[in-house]
Amino acid sequence: MEFMLDTANIADIKKYVEILPVVGVTSNPSIVKKEGKVAFFDHMKEIRSIIGESRSLHVQVVAKDYDGMIKDAETILNKIDQKVFIKVPVSEVGLKVIKELKRRGVNVTATAIYTKFQAYLAIAAGADYIAPYFNRMENMGIDPREAIFEMAQEIERTDSETKIVAASFKNAGQVNAALESGSQAATMGVDIIQQALAMPSIGQAVDDFTADWEAVYGADTNLA
Ligand code: E4P
Repeated sequence: MEFMLDTANIADIKKYVEILPVVGVTSNPSIVKKEGKVAFFDHMKEIRSIIGESRSLHVQVVAKDYDGMIKDAETILNKIDQKVFIKVPVSEVGLKVIKELKRRGVNVTATAIYTKFQAYLAIAAGADYIAPYFNRMENMGIDPREAIFEMAQEIERTDSETKIVAASFKNAGQVNAALESGSQAATMGVDIIQQALAMPSIGQAVDDFTADWEAVYGADTNLA
C-alpha cells in the first residue's frame, strides 16, 4: 500500500512524515483554502522541502480551459520542480491536457474520478495515478468498491503502469475498503488517522500492560 497525506498543513505534514510511512502529499484548491491565503508556491516548496524528493508531491491545476490548465501545469513545474505530479480533473478538456502532459513526459495524477468510464479514459491517456473519490461516490449512490475493483482489473487487462490512489475518505473503513478492492494507494486527511488511532481500547490495552509490568517490577524499572 502507498500511503499519502491529503493536506497542505505544514505542521501536520511535518508530524506525520515522522510517524507514518508516507510516500506522498496531495492537495486540491479546497484543501489549500483551509490554510488561508498562503503564498501558494512558497507553501508548496516548503512541503517539498519537508517530504524531500523521494516522496511524491501532487498539485492541482486551477484553470478550467485547455490553455489555462497547460499554463498552470508549466507554472507549477517551473516554480516547484519538474517531479511534481500535476493533478488534472478527468473532464473532456482535462483528458486533452493529460494527453499533452504525458506527451511531454510530465507526471500526472488524474483526479475528480466518480465513474469507471472516467478511470478507463485516464488509464488509456497514460495517467500515472487515477484518483477515484470514494466518499463522494458513495454519496452519489455509486459503489466505489465495485468501481475500484474494475479499475484495478482494467489496469491489469491493459498491462498499464497507472496506479489507483483512492481519495475523498471520511473514515478508516472506507480506506480499508478501497485498498481491499484493489487500490494501490490511498490519500487521506490526518483526521482519518487521528480518529482511527484514538480508539479508547488501544489506550486501555497500553495502560493495562503498564499496570501489569509495574505490579511485578515497580514503576521505575524498564527493559533497559
Ligand atoms: C484528493 O486530493 C481529492 O481531491 C480529495 O481527497 C477530495 O476529498 P473531498 O471529497 O473530501 O473533498
